[in-house]
Amino acid sequence: MKFTFLLALAGTLATVDAHGYLTIPSSRTRLGFEVGIDTCPECSILEPVESWPDLEAAQVGRSGPCGYNARVSVDYNQPGDYWGNSVVATYTAGDTIEVQWCVDNNGDHGGMFTYGICQNQTLVDLFLDPDYLPTTDEKQLAEDCFLEGELKCTDVDGQTCGYNPDCTSDEACYRNDWFTCNAFAATTARGCEGVDGAAEYSCTTTISGGYTVTKKIKIPDYDSDHTLLRFRWNSYQTGQIYLHCADIAISGSGSGSDSSTTSSSTATTSKTTSTTSSATTTSTCAAATSISVTFDELVTTTYGENVYISGSISQLGSWDTSSAVALSASSYTSSNPLWMATISLPVGTSFEYKFIKKETDGSIVWESDPNRSYTVPTGCSGATATVSATWR
Ligand SMILES: *[C@@H]1O[C@H](CO)[C@@H](O)[C@H](O)[C@H]1NC(C)=O
Ligand SMILES: *[C@@H]1O[C@H](CO)[C@@H](O)[C@H](O)[C@H]1NC(C)=O
Repeated sequence: MKFTFLLALAGTLATVDAHGYLTIPSSRTRLGFEVGIDTCPECSILEPVESWPDLEAAQVGRSGPCGYNARVSVDYNQPGDYWGNSVVATYTAGDTIEVQWCVDNNGDHGGMFTYGICQNQTLVDLFLDPDYLPTTDEKQLAEDCFLEGELKCTDVDGQTCGYNPDCTSDEACYRNDWFTCNAFAATTARGCEGVDGAAEYSCTTTISGGYTVTKKIKIPDYDSDHTLLRFRWNSYQTGQIYLHCADIAISGSGSGSDSSTTSSSTATTSKTTSTTSSATTTSTCAAATSISVTFDELVTTTYGENVYISGSISQLGSWDTSSAVALSASSYTSSNPLWMATISLPVGTSFEYKFIKKETDGSIVWESDPNRSYTVPTGCSGATATVSATWR
């Protein structure tokens, strides 16, 4: 009896397939999962579609660029109470950043993935209005724009960009500007799990433990107070595509001596914008006075070394390193050396900061210049933001 039951269960799991979602920066799906609205963040699936070998052939349909989770009937193309109303990370044009998604142990279908930014703000704005659900045509137009604004693996200096072992050179998937998982049937370092080779449960999925998949992308020369980073994974094994978006801001690089002028004018602009957005959101939600901001810092440490965040505001110790805020290493693994802290900060607060390491002998190691800067976004009560960084 028991044996039969187990077989039946195994059969179910094999057809359920499990899957993946964008985790860093925090996708709308991750936010929906964290507040308990989405019970399976890895289950937003566009299917059945042609996902292989032509990676761009499938129309996105209802899934749009941000994904639709049919299990919980949530359409992530429209901002909800807990996602889409404020940005989760602010990047500088031209920066190379580390991004991450999480693949479930039971549904690692191999294949290839890409990230994109659509530089048509008019189009992206349709996905930032809490009172508007974009039409299927608008979802496709936006996806076409995200594919045009692809953030290529090959744009990042020094990054290894390979071809997928399951793709032959005469097929449309034979391209190394997309990122690739390893061979689907490999006996070691298999599929997407094999990309990082991280431990099972190195990230959270709901079906069977997750594995991180980490890559670097280069932020384009573009300026926006609120735009979207789109993640797309085309499965090799199944006719399935996974689509997710994260709400981000990009401040123009304004290189050289102009940088301080640029950044102060950007700050003024974003202040104006945030006033507008809190006024707009009043009708649909209570505006937050403080927001929980999570600082994710990838930094490899040795035993006894601890990571803190020190900055110009009192909540970060006003640059006094003895009052700096400790980060936690509870999610740290050797392949994903993540330190994190969540700090409640008043909306609209602008400040400068750096991460520091405190050595066992009490000495302090500072990150290299320049100081990092951040402005706490506005949002609905309960909104959160995430800042993702890598030690420098
Ligand atoms: C942006 O998208 C809109 C809607 O599809 C389109 O009408 C407009 O021409 C696009 N703008 C640019 C600059 O491509
Ligand atoms: C960073 O901030 C500190 C404290 O305000 C300041 O002394 C230092 O000069 C800043 N560093 C840079 C590179 O601007």
